[in-house]
Amino acid sequence: MKRTFLFPALASVLVLAAAATEPPQTLRQAYQKDFLIGTALGSGFFKQGMTAVPAWAGRQFNSTTPCDLLKWQSYNPQPGVYRHQKADAYVDYGRSQGHYVVGHALFWHKQVPEWVFLDEKGETISREQLLQRMRERVRELANRYGSRINAWDVVNEAWLDDGHMRDSHWTSVLGDDFIEQAFRIAAQELPADVELIYNDFNMTKPGKRKAVVAMIRDFKAKGVRIDGVGMQGHWGMDHPTLDQIEASITAFADAGVKVHISELDIDVLPRGPKMDKGDAVLRPEHNPYTSGLPADMPQKQAIRYAEIFALLLKHRDQIKRVTFWGLTDGDSWLNNHPIQGRTNYPLLFDRNNTPKPAWDAVVNLKRTAAPSGSGP
Ligand code: GLA
Repeated sequence: MKRTFLFPALASVLVLAAAATEPPQTLRQAYQKDFLIGTALGSGFFKQGMTAVPAWAGRQFNSTTPCDLLKWQSYNPQPGVYRHQKADAYVDYGRSQGHYVVGHALFWHKQVPEWVFLDEKGETISREQLLQRMRERVRELANRYGSRINAWDVVNEAWLDDGHMRDSHWTSVLGDDFIEQAFRIAAQELPADVELIYNDFNMTKPGKRKAVVAMIRDFKAKGVRIDGVGMQGHWGMDHPTLDQIEASITAFADAGVKVHISELDIDVLPRGPKMDKGDAVLRPEHNPYTSGLPADMPQKQAIRYAEIFALLLKHRDQIKRVTFWGLTDGDSWLNNHPIQGRTNYPLLFDRNNTPKPAWDAVVNLKRTAAPSGSGP
């Protein structure tokens, strides 16, 4: 139903894109009255304490997330060993641009070193010891960056699609209150103005949605602070549906948190069941667009992006931020997932840093919606 409603409006948006006479706006300018627009930057942009982020990124976006460099494995690979240089450069970069700086992620079942869960003899540590190590990680980050990091993904990907908790080292040592303990520690150690977020993929699946809503309500009833939910948004051309996305935005907002679309990209390549199981062999049918997309695909992707942004605008009061996972198609993780070495086109900027039709559609959606007042 929503599709039929949005399509005529979007067709005119795309026509207007071609005919627009206004000077081009940046994404952040177009959405400045609605929500933050972010990008995620790989560690390669931060070398020897310096940033190599192109200047246009600072203008297009007003929020940044580090892809890896604050994850436990990257930041603190050995006991007492901290890789501060890149992390400092990342935070300095975000602050220098006036961005809303995201910390990603305090506790995740991936990219966490084994030593975190072991003592010197290689035995699994106790619940109390693990809680202490978690606290030390948060305290170190709080001392170093404090409110210069505006929000933290406190826990990443702890729920399964069916609403059960994911089995991990965290749950095997801590038990079912792992997420609650993580949020309690974050609230105690980080400054009060730092927002605390639960982040996950497939947040449109009913089982996961229900579990996350129940968790938020439980935390609020117990006085455990949670400020936001991150719907990662690794989406395809036709899934999830707009209705599914809307149901989750509404459910999380009704539970009393802000919604962050935290890792948005739109995959245009085929997925097969074998590939999802990690088939390592790259066959030509897995990688059909090595020398460019078919003529109609960029417009189809533009319509998909515009439909999503039209929905997000409808819920702008509930949405704090929309972050793309990567800067350009060339640096997207989807070139290597679920199989290495593909040529994917999931973002708004192409391999030459040029805005794609999807960028026009997203920006022009705002121009059409508010022709006289949305610009700077
Ligand atoms: C998940 C994580 C991100 C990143 C992506 C893949 O979504 O939250 O940190 O690792 O996978 O790039």
